[in-house]
Amino acid sequence: MLAVVPPPVTVRVPSKVNLHLDVGDVREDGYHELTTVFQALSLTDEVTVAVADEPGVEVHGEGATNVPANAKNLAWRAIDELARHVGRDPVKANIRVIIRKGIPVSGGMAGGSADAAAALVALSALWRLELGRDDLATIAGAIGSDVPFVLHGGTALGTGRGERLVPVLSRHTFHWVLAFDRRGLSTPRVFTELDRLRAEGDPPRVGAVEPVLEALASGEPRQLALLLGNDLQAAAVSLRPGLRRTLRAGVDAGALAGTVSGSGPTCAFLCEDADAALRVAAELSGAGVCRTVRVAHGPVPGARVIGGDDAP
Ligand code: C5P
Repeated sequence: MLAVVPPPVTVRVPSKVNLHLDVGDVREDGYHELTTVFQALSLTDEVTVAVADEPGVEVHGEGATNVPANAKNLAWRAIDELARHVGRDPVKANIRVIIRKGIPVSGGMAGGSADAAAALVALSALWRLELGRDDLATIAGAIGSDVPFVLHGGTALGTGRGERLVPVLSRHTFHWVLAFDRRGLSTPRVFTELDRLRAEGDPPRVGAVEPVLEALASGEPRQLALLLGNDLQAAAVSLRPGLRRTLRAGVDAGALAGTVSGSGPTCAFLCEDADAALRVAAELSGAGVCRTVRVAHGPVPGARVIGGDDAP
């Protein structure tokens, strides 16, 4: 009897911006203790997991040539981890992962983590694994600090390495403009630079998180704009001084406020509404301070199966 090959499963997964990123002390395991507020954005990747003649990974789209198409790819590591969890071998099972990138690579928007989260959801649907979201979140946390959030989506408060999440009430939709830089920045390098800046002086620190949660509950972009803050921004700007100009250009173009997203170098600009975001994007594109400009909104859901017979 012929084995039945399941149809491919495609998952759409959001990027993230940190509205508030408080970096605490370095822990014994080398990670920093964080208090952060994540928002999932409509700038997405799509990941298809299929049974194919040749197992492996292929990557297309935004920055694809800078993503490893091998076992080092975070999406493949997720496949490997989940397969091990259920006692299977993804190579013997001829699993192929096809990644279509919209999220900038090494951009501070959790692009690699997004692909890992999407791969977890796609493989569990393909193999019809009866795993709960909690099981997937535990595996996600072992792969990377941001993987649980992009699995979850919405708006959430993250603590620990960023992997411990509590959903946050957020009213209305917020509108963003994203400025991609010409090259990426390595996350460990930015954390190390912050440690160096702190050893030498006193770089700015974000305030308390509670006002950010209140602004989100109010749904008022003007209120939230005053509170955007990221401890990693000083480190990202120190490594990439041109970001200062990009941040200024976004505000000059009419954004309410700008922030480096996570470890950067992508800059995220909060705008009054969807029309304002389009105007800011058009003006920023002409300012010559970045490689590409995109508009996005948030919050949006986490990694989800799209299309086909497996759609929810
Ligand atoms: O968890 P993830 O692999 O995404 O983290 C990438 C790197 O970012 C870590 O190796 C570490 O250098 C840094 N990091 C950190 N503290 C965190 C999260 C990440 O120092 N809470």
